[in-house]
Amino acid sequence: MKKNVIVSYVFLLLFSCTAFAQSVKRNVSVVTENTCLVFSVDSNDELIFRHYGKKITDLADFSKNLFTPTAHQNFPSVYPTYGGRSYILPALKLTHDDGVICSELRFVDIKTNNPEPNVTETVIKLKDKAYDLLVDVHYTAYYKEDVISQYVTVRNMEKGSVNVEQVASSYLPLRAESYYLSHFYGSWSKEMRMKEEELTNGVKSIESLKGVRTTQCESPIFIISLNGKSKESEGEVYGGALAWSGNYKLSFQIGEDKLLSIVSGMNPIAAALKLDNGEEIKTPEMILTYSSEGKNRMSQNFHHWSRRYALAHGYDSRPVILNSWEGVGVKFNEDKICEMIDDAASLGVELFVLDDGWFGNKYPRDATDAGLGDWQVNRKKLPHGIDYLVEHAKKKGMKFGLWIEPEMVNPNSELAEKHPDWVVKTDRYTAYTERSQWLLDLTNPEVQDFIVRTIDNIITEAPELVYIKWDANRYANNVGSSYLPADRQSRFWYDYVKGLYSVYERIREKYPDIMLQACSSGGGRMDFGSLKYHDEFWASDNTNAVDRIFIQYGASMFFPASAIASHVSVAPNQQTGMSLPLKYRFDVAMSCRLGMELQPKEMTEKELEFAKSAIETYKRLRPVIQNGDLYRLISPYDGVDRASLMYVSENKSQGVFFVYNLGYHERNERCMVRMQGLDPDAEYKVYELNIMGRPALKKGDIRLSGRYLMEVGIPLLMNKTHDSCVLELIKINK
Ligand code: DGJ
Repeated sequence: MKKNVIVSYVFLLLFSCTAFAQSVKRNVSVVTENTCLVFSVDSNDELIFRHYGKKITDLADFSKNLFTPTAHQNFPSVYPTYGGRSYILPALKLTHDDGVICSELRFVDIKTNNPEPNVTETVIKLKDKAYDLLVDVHYTAYYKEDVISQYVTVRNMEKGSVNVEQVASSYLPLRAESYYLSHFYGSWSKEMRMKEEELTNGVKSIESLKGVRTTQCESPIFIISLNGKSKESEGEVYGGALAWSGNYKLSFQIGEDKLLSIVSGMNPIAAALKLDNGEEIKTPEMILTYSSEGKNRMSQNFHHWSRRYALAHGYDSRPVILNSWEGVGVKFNEDKICEMIDDAASLGVELFVLDDGWFGNKYPRDATDAGLGDWQVNRKKLPHGIDYLVEHAKKKGMKFGLWIEPEMVNPNSELAEKHPDWVVKTDRYTAYTERSQWLLDLTNPEVQDFIVRTIDNIITEAPELVYIKWDANRYANNVGSSYLPADRQSRFWYDYVKGLYSVYERIREKYPDIMLQACSSGGGRMDFGSLKYHDEFWASDNTNAVDRIFIQYGASMFFPASAIASHVSVAPNQQTGMSLPLKYRFDVAMSCRLGMELQPKEMTEKELEFAKSAIETYKRLRPVIQNGDLYRLISPYDGVDRASLMYVSENKSQGVFFVYNLGYHERNERCMVRMQGLDPDAEYKVYELNIMGRPALKKGDIRLSGRYLMEVGIPLLMNKTHDSCVLELIKINK
């Protein structure tokens, strides 16, 4: 080899070692029990995303890096901006005061903090390379639950104002051979339909521009499975949920390098945020989890986290409810409601909820076109007020709750007459009504005060009211605010949700024990942003058990059973016209938070007897269903005409198993579902519950090992189209 060739070789080696030594200055990780996020600060002080997945404790290998400072597209930034050498959809896009449209962030500092032993907060401080613009990326790691949440703050320290046109909550890059996205689409009464599809090159977006009840048609949640369709108990999956009750956008982009870039956050359409000097914006939180054991583990992570950190009264047991809506609508009087309470009490129901129709005097709420906004009790229907009903329920050993739709106003109302400026509208376009109602402008603190005052008045008049069903039955359109200045109209989407959350904060602060249901037209606010203030959500106005199997299965991916309100209603069903056996209706509703949505007066003696016994059974099983671990066994989406799931208590001493037919199974077929989550070495006593007609399980004392139940399965006689079966499993202590 010639001398000059050797010299250049040595030089190249030295150079690459230097470049290599310079390329990673420092590694940073955010860890949970089984997962971790790893970032590196490179020689340019750029913060590079390195890993999110199985836990790696020794970060040394991340420094022995294989990349050079020129290969950035392979190692994307933790929070990509529009600018620099990034060509993917940006997490941040803004215009500086001087008109410059690019940004480049550099690492400044990192701070960690442990507000409690299970929780670590990490704040990574970034600053624009050329401007006084500060971006903090906040991570909160929930150790035991394997959940990491992320949000971002942007502070403008530039002299003039900055126009923020896109500010995502999180950016997540993933690398695999193929990616499968599960998302949750639908419409009113057909919510949470799960759809899995392979992502291809380009961009797929999941979004809402509806402002209110944003989770009926799509949901700000996703599951990504690597290298194949997702499975329940194996495979690498990522679950993400944006905690935001307003417009959102989740983008999934596969680029030339096969990297999947997921940008999640508020929808940037018509939502630019102007930040003056010193002003800061905080994004909603994006909640993430990773599971190397499939979707079921992913869901359990979300459920554990929800109960501990995300739901109001997360571990408290939820009462059995009778809600008046499908039973009597808005047509009732005091006697009718008292009778309903009496009947509910004799069924063992624990809480009666009076739905729509109880308010409005000048504009009585006798139909949906009047009264919203006038939250005074209708004296004609209820001459003795709400407190009288609360007392009546109390005498029957029951609690009482009330429906309200405080973000809305009917044009036919005293409120609309008095405060036309509180309505969301513009001067030149029509303020279209939906369901004969307008939206109130929650960006306006006066409107926020009005809602808090309304709740205050209701509770002052009926101090023992324990539950509020919070409805919201329209979207936002032609938005405009009389409160926001002209140059801040596009803050509407952000400020509306912030206004709503501030109302919730105030209510929660004053009434920490009150139970709140996020109803929102059924399924319209199934998001972790609003759930923080709620005990549960009304998953759908569709109470038809067959549809509920699909809706609840979808919802179970992220939300625990205690949060999913599910009510038994009449046959034929009011929405679908389908007639299902009462047993089937109960068996489906009992897999979540059980309630009823009918007029008990219209039930036969036999039905009442069955309902009473099923409610009693539910109360006994409630701790396992509401706080146990969920195992999904057969998906209704798999097209096998059957669905099955079970719950197992933490110590595995008790289990509750559900199976539902969705089609006819030929008569020699036996249903043998393999269970999960039991103690393989323990023996379980197996009982069938809610029997009506022919039992599914052979009668007698059945004792089987957990191993047998999980490896072989128990044969059940389940052939008819709408057969269902509930089993209880009790561990025998030897
Ligand atoms: C829509 C809700 O989802 C129903 O449960 C009921 O409360 C009606 N609104 C009342 O108007």
